[in-house]
Amino acid sequence: MAIQDHVHAPIETPPRAPSPTHRFGTLAVHAGSPHDPVTGAVIESISLSTTFAQSAVGQPIGYEYTRSANPNRANFERCIAALERAKYALAFSSGSATTATILQSLAAGSHVISVSDVYGGTHRYFTQVASAHGVRVTFTPSIEVDIEELITADTKLIWIETPSNPTLSLVDIRAVADIAHRSGVLVVVDNTFLSPYIQNPLEHGADIVVHSVTKYINGHSDVLMGVAAFNSDALMERLKFLQNAIGAVPSPFDCWLAHRGVKTLHLRAREASKNGQMVAQALLDSPHVLAVNYPGLQNHKQRKIALKQHRDGLGGGMLSFRVKGGKEAAERFCQATHIFTLAESLGGVESLVEVPASMTHMGIPREQREAAGVFDDLVRISCGVEDGVDLVADVRQALEKVVVGPKIRNGVAYGHA
Ligand SMILES: Cc1ncc(COP(=O)(O)O)c(C=O)c1O
Repeated sequence: MAIQDHVHAPIETPPRAPSPTHRFGTLAVHAGSPHDPVTGAVIESISLSTTFAQSAVGQPIGYEYTRSANPNRANFERCIAALERAKYALAFSSGSATTATILQSLAAGSHVISVSDVYGGTHRYFTQVASAHGVRVTFTPSIEVDIEELITADTKLIWIETPSNPTLSLVDIRAVADIAHRSGVLVVVDNTFLSPYIQNPLEHGADIVVHSVTKYINGHSDVLMGVAAFNSDALMERLKFLQNAIGAVPSPFDCWLAHRGVKTLHLRAREASKNGQMVAQALLDSPHVLAVNYPGLQNHKQRKIALKQHRDGLGGGMLSFRVKGGKEAAERFCQATHIFTLAESLGGVESLVEVPASMTHMGIPREQREAAGVFDDLVRISCGVEDGVDLVADVRQALEKVVVGPKIRNGVAYGHA
């Protein structure tokens, strides 16, 4: 059965998982982290075995075969379910594999509505892969306004990124879910940019929350992985079946590393968010900057949504800004920073900077890109957990270099190494 064969039936948002007794930090450290019952080891061992002994034919002692389930994956999934306030979580070999598995759960002929400025790889999957198995995706830059008009009899899924990548616009999850659920449509939220510490989309009515674990959850830029969390038993049955049948599963070692990483998520996310706020303010105060996109700023056009959906109204570690001087200035800025590394990705302990139009979002046609606010002069920043004062100083000195531009001495450019 594909997700939502019961077309048009309104969806009851499944009951929340029971409220945990403990708070986020305690769950991050302890959920899915049992002591080893034999050795007493406080940290789980890495279970590399691909197969597991059975006591009689068809009677596994514990696990069976590592693609179907593995102790490290199961422990990591338990932890993420606890942090997303979900009943279930399933891990995949990447964020993209998570997206692909959810889309493959739809029957041919299904229709999906997505926000326009999704992650470039999600856009690529929606436009170039989903269509090959008969799933059509409509993009909209203003989902809260358009949703009712866009839902058709075939619509099965709504795909939201909030904050969006890379323009940091927000979507009111509850407003969209209320309308979607009336028509029997499920809502998926990609929560990669904020992490479960800052936002729990299921609490606002979403049916599935997905993450590129590669980012904040692992947090150390050394694991590629994805996860989906949800409350519905029917979704568990369907997605667990596909996790095994498609087989896009993470290795035990990656699960172990990501589980180790997530234990400090609350500390990292708080610090990255504090740095994001400081850097955004410095950019806002700079005469060299055209506009700053950061949901922690009072002038963000959807600040009210941030106050409603984000823990303590935090803005997170991600921001973007338009620099005066166009594409060249944006590229020069990224080469002029000393602490921020020019690289794709985000959510690690180290700060990164990139130009989406020429890097992560290059595959999206210019017209569509610009309609979503992704201009050539837009720079995206991922704040890490370095000292915020140093990050602000780095941004300021790089902006000064951008304004001066390349100086020519004896025919050789210098001054913006
Ligand atoms: C918001 C968002 N979702 C999904 C993905 C895809 O995740 P992965 O790179 O783990 O496949 C990314 C990757 O950058 C992302 O930024």
